[in-house]
Amino acid sequence: MSHKRTLVTCALPYANGPVHIGHLAGAYIPGDIYVRYLRMRGEDVVFICGSDEHGVPITIKARKEGVTPQDVVDRYHKVMKDAFTGLGINFDIYSRTSSAVHAQNASEFFRKLYDQADFITQESEQLYDEEAKMFLTDRLIEGTCPKCGNPHAYGDQCENCGCTLSPEELLDPKSKLSGSTPVKKKTKHWYLPLDRYEPWLRDWILEQHKEWKTNVYGQCKSWLDSGLQPRAVTRDLDWGVPVPVEGAEGKVLYVWFDAPIGYISNTKELLPESWEKWWKDPETRLVHFIGKDNIVFHCIVFPSMLKAYGDYILPDNVPSNEFLNLEGDKISTSRNWAVWVHEYEQEFPGCEDVLRYVLTANAPETKDNDFTWKDFQSRNNSELLAIFGNFVNRAVVLTHKYFGGKVPANLKPEPIDAETLAAVRPCREALEKDVETFHFREALKEAMNIARIGNKYISDMEPWKVAKTDLDRTASILYTCLQLCADLAIAFEPFTPFSAQKLRDILRVGVNAGCDHRVGEGAPTVNWYKADEGRAVHTRPSSPAPTGDLVLTWDMLGASELLPAGHQLGEAVLLFRKIEDAEVEAQIAKLEAIKKARQEAEAARAAAEAAKKVEPQKPEVTFDQFGAMDIRTATVLAAERVPKTDKLLKLTIDTGIDQRTIVSGIAEYYSPEDMLGKQICILANLAPRTIRGIESKGMILMAKQGDGKMRFITPQEVVTNGAQIG
Ligand code: MF3
Ligand code: ZN
Repeated sequence: MSHKRTLVTCALPYANGPVHIGHLAGAYIPGDIYVRYLRMRGEDVVFICGSDEHGVPITIKARKEGVTPQDVVDRYHKVMKDAFTGLGINFDIYSRTSSAVHAQNASEFFRKLYDQADFITQESEQLYDEEAKMFLTDRLIEGTCPKCGNPHAYGDQCENCGCTLSPEELLDPKSKLSGSTPVKKKTKHWYLPLDRYEPWLRDWILEQHKEWKTNVYGQCKSWLDSGLQPRAVTRDLDWGVPVPVEGAEGKVLYVWFDAPIGYISNTKELLPESWEKWWKDPETRLVHFIGKDNIVFHCIVFPSMLKAYGDYILPDNVPSNEFLNLEGDKISTSRNWAVWVHEYEQEFPGCEDVLRYVLTANAPETKDNDFTWKDFQSRNNSELLAIFGNFVNRAVVLTHKYFGGKVPANLKPEPIDAETLAAVRPCREALEKDVETFHFREALKEAMNIARIGNKYISDMEPWKVAKTDLDRTASILYTCLQLCADLAIAFEPFTPFSAQKLRDILRVGVNAGCDHRVGEGAPTVNWYKADEGRAVHTRPSSPAPTGDLVLTWDMLGASELLPAGHQLGEAVLLFRKIEDAEVEAQIAKLEAIKKARQEAEAARAAAEAAKKVEPQKPEVTFDQFGAMDIRTATVLAAERVPKTDKLLKLTIDTGIDQRTIVSGIAEYYSPEDMLGKQICILANLAPRTIRGIESKGMILMAKQGDGKMRFITPQEVVTNGAQIG
């Protein structure tokens, strides 16, 4: 179907932590590439994002830190916003769901569905923390697993034995908020009856959107095949958009209900007059970029909400990526296993494009993928730098050397020149097809192929050698190379915009990078990047392009002449720098330190758990059996290690009746010095045994913990040696 404009959204990231490379690879970089590409093709695009600032985890974080939820989201909103800007991810608006516009808009959305009787209500009993005055989500309840006895099972799952649980099944449940025992309390909630939309969804997705990516289509199908249930869209919580109906005091909209409405709110905030055409005109195409954990919400829940409301268009496509792992491990905010974007920007200033490049070249488009620092380094050094950067640098430096930095005339062409330039055309066509079908890693390969073509051409032609005998031929070779450089300045704009800009500065050309709406209402702005001023010039489409500037357009990609002979180039600067071994080693060391600290903490926790294990009681004994044991106090007079063993101490002790030797397996816990002069308890009438050639008479009484750790038993006050115990 034809369309007039495209509304592109990226998932609103939770404002409970900074963004990491997994987020970037999943949704934000592909979204930005797509938008930049469409804009260069002359499409009218609005690019919407913002922070998702509601939900339980934010309230828990605030509680832990002793601040308000607003404090938490203010902090991360800024970090995320700046991180995106730093990587050139240029949303038209990056707003937030705690905004006034959103509260009003989400509230109105709910109210309309409520008035149309699109919800059902249900009363249920839920666990309530009377001290914290809060209903508890499953994850906020901890108790003993009925299956394996793990004392730290969650209300929905035991992580020890892996079983799924409901909070009622837990033995001795406790609130994680206050530690108190939760009580059952009745509560009423509003539900979106997704089951009603099932037949429609089946047709809309399974029949009409067979072109969706297979991972997306597959997930939708399995959700639909397992049958949809009504979903609660309200929560008992004091952080969020209040439920705007009577009898809903103390309740807010469920975060997954309000957040996607945030896309609409943010569009409204950006374009208060014209937002409706972006959301309600069937000639607008809506595309959501998301990570795979968001598929059900964007393909099933949100469309059902939009459908219920009426008037709204539905997503045309929902390109979702799979997950990116980091050095073989799942990325996790809570385990601090991530490369944080704001940290990357500080540690690798000027290398923003390297991250964009690596995350695209290695994007988890069809399956989970792994980010490693070694791969990062090698893609920079042997692709960006060795192929793209090296080609451009050789072409420009030689042009300065032989032709005063002016594009030479094509004085002595040979067929290979035109053939080489013509080879760009199929790359362009493949690139376009790949971007339009959301295959960004393939698209990037095609852009890179143009650089490969250039690099091979200049290496084969060896203009530095030809120049010794034939300057006319050299002119044609460099003329051809510079046309390819201009191709690269166009083709890389969506993928590596900073380097494309740098390249255009070297070539002293601008580019028509299309319209954006960052300045708000009115006619969209066109970015004519004015290379010689080193800045982007914003003009209205009605005003003429800045004069005196050579402007590249997407349509010129693959043309035979992009830069005319005589055009003056700027200085040669390097597009990419080498990433040194030491830099990636430092990053790897940083991750290893995190892993080590985590493993140590886990080991300590496991040991503490094990220590708590109590052995079951032994079979009964008679009073006489007990009385047969001669237990008494004694003092250690001398202690030494038994040679060639790790565990044994040889102790000389005063029992009050005699002095004797006892060999005891406590060397792991006590050194000989520790034992010296200590008063202990012994079983005096144990039959003598010879241990390592030493006769041991009796046994020292030890308390043994669940983890095997031993402590000797000592009278609380010193008594005479030989005092009987019993
Ligand atoms: N905050 C969610 C996440 O990070 C995404 C919300 S997308 C929206 O997984 F549609 F709800 F906005
Ligand atoms: Zn268990």
